[in-house]
Amino acid sequence: SPAPVKVAVTGAAGQICYSLLFRIASGELLGANQPVELRLLEITPALKALEGVVMELDDCAYSTLAGVEIGDDPNQVFDGVNLAMLVGARPRSKGMERSDLLEANGAIFTAQGKALNDHAADDVKILITGNPANTNALIAKSNAPDIPANRFNALTRLDHNRAKAQLAAKAGVSVNEVSNVTIWGNHSATQYPDAFNAKIGGKPAAEVINDRAWIENDFLPTVQKRGAAIIEARGASSAASAANATLEHMRDWVSGTPAGDWVSMAVPTDGSYGIAEGVVSGFPCVVKNGEYEIVQGLELDDFSRAKIDASVAELNEEREAVKSLGLI
Ligand code: NAI
Repeated sequence: SPAPVKVAVTGAAGQICYSLLFRIASGELLGANQPVELRLLEITPALKALEGVVMELDDCAYSTLAGVEIGDDPNQVFDGVNLAMLVGARPRSKGMERSDLLEANGAIFTAQGKALNDHAADDVKILITGNPANTNALIAKSNAPDIPANRFNALTRLDHNRAKAQLAAKAGVSVNEVSNVTIWGNHSATQYPDAFNAKIGGKPAAEVINDRAWIENDFLPTVQKRGAAIIEARGASSAASAANATLEHMRDWVSGTPAGDWVSMAVPTDGSYGIAEGVVSGFPCVVKNGEYEIVQGLELDDFSRAKIDASVAELNEEREAVKSLGLI
């Protein structure tokens, strides 16, 4: 069988990874014929819990799991890695201001960006799930000058899947009928889930649903606030669905997107759709030969444009905040 692909995952003792690691190890990321070696990063106090997770990985006896290494030093854990899923982040604790949160995460993603720069394999692909994901990706990218900018993505796939599920439910069809969904902007409550370029059964979703008020007043806030609704119901933030989205984003980035469809990826802005360079924003993307491309030429009406601009304005504010903290 081929040489193992080295997959780094951070926050490995956390709740998302309790789902994610098992799915990667089982072959769901790269296929049943591709061995993977897991490189798991945690902070020192969580290493003991991580050892327990590794015991459970052993106990699955996955045929595709070629090895597991754990550690608290990104320079060692990221050595030679081909794929990196940066899930671990500092959650907002009581009394923490937004600037404290950006600073705490800034320190993490500065160090991890540098470590990837110095130690990752030349073909590395890096996906940031830990929040604030888009700006953490910007910080990591800015601290990794030797890695091409387009190797840094942030996760908007969970929002994408949430939007898909809501559209399918409203139309009374299977999710398999829903395609061409896009999440524009930030992975935050300002994100813009685009029902106007989405399709249901190959037809424009907004036409099939034929209820603009529902799109604006139900669909949008439901998708934007779904994370909070899950915390409210479950008493903990979305974990299995976040793991699923992280896996699907990376799988599609490696293996390609289906013909006729696209996926939502947060990628470094390049001027597409008039969104200036300098942030990491959600776009419709297709992947060919392991490289993503932003889908061009979609129409955006005034409503969509205003929503996208508002979310991009928030990304620009986050960038200015981390700039003033000296993180980029
Ligand atoms: P969690 O708190 O259960 O786990 C996070 C883990 O990261 C902890 O075990 C912690 O020790 C570890 N960690 C902290 N700093 C680290 C560092 N410097 N290096 C390595 N590990 C470190 O959190 P959970 O639920 O697994 O979520 C992880 C992140 O994903 C959070 O930031 C959360 O907000 C974010 N998230 C993002 C979503 C998205 O769609 N982009 C969706 C859901 C969650």
